[in-house]
Amino acid sequence: MKVLVIGAGGREHAIVARCAGECRPGELLAAPGNPGIAALARLLPLDPSRPEDVLEAVEREQVELTIVGPELPLSIGLADRFMAAGRLIVGPTQAAARLETSKAFAKAFMQRHRVPTARFHTCDSSDEALACVRSGGLGFPVVLKADGLAAGKGVVIAPDLASAEATIHDVMVDQRFGSAGARLVIEECLVGPEVSFFVLCDGRRALPIGTAQDHKRVFDDDRGPNTGGMGAFAPSPLVDAALGERVIQQIVRPVLDGMREEGHPFSGFLYVGLMLTGDGPKVIEFNVRLGDPETQVILSLIDEPLLPLLAAAARGDLRDAPVRLAAGARVGVVIASRGYPETADSGRAIDGLDAAARLPGVTVFHAGTAAHDGRIVTAGGRVLTVVGSGADYADAIARAYGGVSRISFDGMQYRRDIGRQAIRAAGPVAGRP
Ligand code: AMP
Ligand code: GLY
Repeated sequence: MKVLVIGAGGREHAIVARCAGECRPGELLAAPGNPGIAALARLLPLDPSRPEDVLEAVEREQVELTIVGPELPLSIGLADRFMAAGRLIVGPTQAAARLETSKAFAKAFMQRHRVPTARFHTCDSSDEALACVRSGGLGFPVVLKADGLAAGKGVVIAPDLASAEATIHDVMVDQRFGSAGARLVIEECLVGPEVSFFVLCDGRRALPIGTAQDHKRVFDDDRGPNTGGMGAFAPSPLVDAALGERVIQQIVRPVLDGMREEGHPFSGFLYVGLMLTGDGPKVIEFNVRLGDPETQVILSLIDEPLLPLLAAAARGDLRDAPVRLAAGARVGVVIASRGYPETADSGRAIDGLDAAARLPGVTVFHAGTAAHDGRIVTAGGRVLTVVGSGADYADAIARAYGGVSRISFDGMQYRRDIGRQAIRAAGPVAGRP
């Protein structure tokens, strides 16, 4: 099957790596890709934010299935164009993508369909927002979220009234996130561990394809500013079969049914960001795509061919039988450039990539890299994800950090504690699958 993967990060490298084992030579394309992806797929120099160009290339190359990594192309209607042209694509329409692209839509939708989530108010003006926080009805700390896409930076947890007021001023008056902040969702602050729950959807059905836990803060022990993700492990030891079933029944099922009833059936990957509260699992956010770096740790645990599943999702005829998931654990450590997340150094030569990749149970995925004069150099904030595959979390951690220790570049930074909480959570039977 001729396949095109859209995107250029570690997530897309992991998708391409999975597909590479299932495609014949020459059948795997990526756009725009990166130097790691280039070793496995032919790159097309396309801008994913130009749907017409992507569709034209797909027609020209006779691509049979397109898999979209990032949300941006979906938010501007790439899947709508494909569906209109009768081309298979893994990813939702622009209207269905509102589950991620508009937090106000997602919250109102959850309320309409009784999906458990934090109590909230949606505010269309700074006066309304100020009145909301001054009333104290949602308590403190309180969570303020810009409605639109804000590159993962649109959420502020305000500890008290003064800081909530300052944030409202920043977002709604000074427009720190541009038009993304024209509306603000204000919600109660939930407490509990966060887990990511992934399903593959075909508009009607949803099949679980794995769970993971991300490490969003830049420094060890969850200190420092939020990032796109500094590491992840899979599966989450906090999600057992009973909790998984509860998430399906109370969250995934009503979302799929509700989107279909409202005329926007959801197909593609749905990433359910959950907080496990004392009151049960509640939705923190939806993403209409796979996560990065979560993809790098979940995909290799899918213990059956991936492409038939993705093609079925795109066609709207997913089966009912569960996806087979392998035992074992995966731990992914992100290596970032000096200055990340505020700034990102680039152009530093990277050593040890081959030595790391030769280690058993170690896979290196590229994100912010570039090829320069025959060398791989850094080209962005998150540079690589090094994944360790092990029989249990401790084994996977040891392999991942064994890989990291072979790699070096000027200014590289990474967390030393990725996966440690999985061992704690799994308790004495460390490494349960
Ligand atoms: P989001 O961009 O929606 O993923 O939010 C970013 C982060 O903010 C999440 O990963 C949570 O850690 C935190 N967060 C978002 N909403 C809440 C909430 N209602 N209560 C507590 N933390 C939250
Ligand atoms: N790692 C979080 C995300 O992909 O949104």
